[in-house]
Amino acid sequence: LWLAVGIRHRQPGEPAIENGFIPYLGCALQFGANPLQFLRSRQKKYGHIFTCKIAGQYIHFLCDPFSYHSVIRQGRHLDWRKFHFATSVKAFGHDSFDPRHGHTTENLHQTFLKTLQGEALPSLIETMMGHLQDVMLRSDTLSPSKDHWEVDGIFAFCYKVMFESGYLTLFGKELGEDKCQARQAAQKALVLNALENFKEFDKIFPALVAGLPIHVFKSAYSARENLAKTMHAENLSKRENVSDLISMRMILNDSLSTFNDVSKARTHVALLWASQANTLPATFWSLFYMIRSPDAMKAARKEVQKVLENSGLTVDPSDPTLNLTREQLDHTPVLDSIIKEAMRLSSASMNVRVAKEDFLLHLDNQEAYHIRKDDVIALYPPMLHYDPEIYEDPYEYKFDRFLDEKGQEKTTFYRSTRRLRYFYMPFGSGVTKCPGRFFAVYEIKQFLTLVLSYFDMELLDPAIKVPPLDQSRAGLGILQPTYDVDFRYKLKSNN
Ligand code: HEM
Repeated sequence: LWLAVGIRHRQPGEPAIENGFIPYLGCALQFGANPLQFLRSRQKKYGHIFTCKIAGQYIHFLCDPFSYHSVIRQGRHLDWRKFHFATSVKAFGHDSFDPRHGHTTENLHQTFLKTLQGEALPSLIETMMGHLQDVMLRSDTLSPSKDHWEVDGIFAFCYKVMFESGYLTLFGKELGEDKCQARQAAQKALVLNALENFKEFDKIFPALVAGLPIHVFKSAYSARENLAKTMHAENLSKRENVSDLISMRMILNDSLSTFNDVSKARTHVALLWASQANTLPATFWSLFYMIRSPDAMKAARKEVQKVLENSGLTVDPSDPTLNLTREQLDHTPVLDSIIKEAMRLSSASMNVRVAKEDFLLHLDNQEAYHIRKDDVIALYPPMLHYDPEIYEDPYEYKFDRFLDEKGQEKTTFYRSTRRLRYFYMPFGSGVTKCPGRFFAVYEIKQFLTLVLSYFDMELLDPAIKVPPLDQSRAGLGILQPTYDVDFRYKLKSNN
């Protein structure tokens, strides 16, 4: 019977194992209900490392932050590509990017580094700033007024503003005269359609990662394919100001891969998802917590005013052309801390590596464990982010948690008096660390700078509770709120 349900037995030298009560699913339901609580209770029982069967897969959870390094460093025993490439194929339906499968010789990792970091950043930042102001003040997306308050959900607001601006920054605008009204309307319809399709597809993303086939979800399947249609090369070639990321990927798809047109288009959908799925909830939590904390609002307003003054910029909603360089955005430690604290409280990305062969995993306390080939080793950063020995009152929002005594970025955190190398990991770790993380933080800073500069904002209910995190996405990145929170905004009257 044990064999029939695929139960594994612990061998000498291996971590303690929990097979769970349900064949195949194993501990999936208990884990899914509250991952942090589940892992904490197992850590208490078994120690720094233990193994759980989750949805057919044996996963070793490593819970000691001082041992993270042995998984994060690029060791010869661990493979990151296997899991990442397979997940992308499952969700987006393109051919494999794994060079070992022979569909492409593109080094995707290098493409991301070249087009999302370093010299690529200033132009991404400038384009994003223009689109953010267009969407907030020039288009009819918001139409704010000086005389009356507009009421909206904070998540809905962030979604509209960030999706459109981010989409246009990566995928450009259709060629043609901007002043033509019919063209503007068509442009708007395209973005709104993309937004609706994105939402529909994103809803089932956790199910796809868990291995369910997309054909089971008819409307999500057509949503994904609709998005892909807009990203066929013939459509993308009609767009201008396409980011380096997308234009380079188009060239490399054509020159280095054997992907067909549909597969190529689906690789762009994957990038749309990567660029938006975490940014949208991260923007929500940053804005929500900031508005809810009078101290955070006050400190952020002061910092933004100072940056604008130092740059000689005046805020004028009838001519919304504020621009901040990368260097100026780098000198906003308060905004930085506000964003970090929001992500500390909402991120739940799992860091995963696959064992290439049987090997011994050495922990910081000199213990070593046998790991079997093809087993998965996982780090779950919320265990750090909610550790009271690292972050005092971990469930509380403290906007200045990541500021030092001098008001600059705080970079030293301790656990039991020992300095931690890893204490904040919403962007993953090591070689699989999010390549878009710098741009992500800049765009949220830009968003906060602009809403603080142009709008007065208030929660409808200043005493509203923090909405619970939607745990159905645990493991996949920044979690969404289970419900939206209403706020009101109007153009500042002193402009
Ligand atoms: C991958 C987080 C925004 C592009 C990832 C991963 C995480 C992450 C956790 C996976 C790392 C791993 O598996 O270990 C975030 C968060 C964001 C954000 C929290 C916003 C707050 C962005 C943006 C872009 C982007 C704005 C692009 C414009 C990517 C790409 C990958 C990725 C391309 C896949 C990298 C690979 O597989 O090599 N991100 N991300 N991300 N992210 Fe982000």
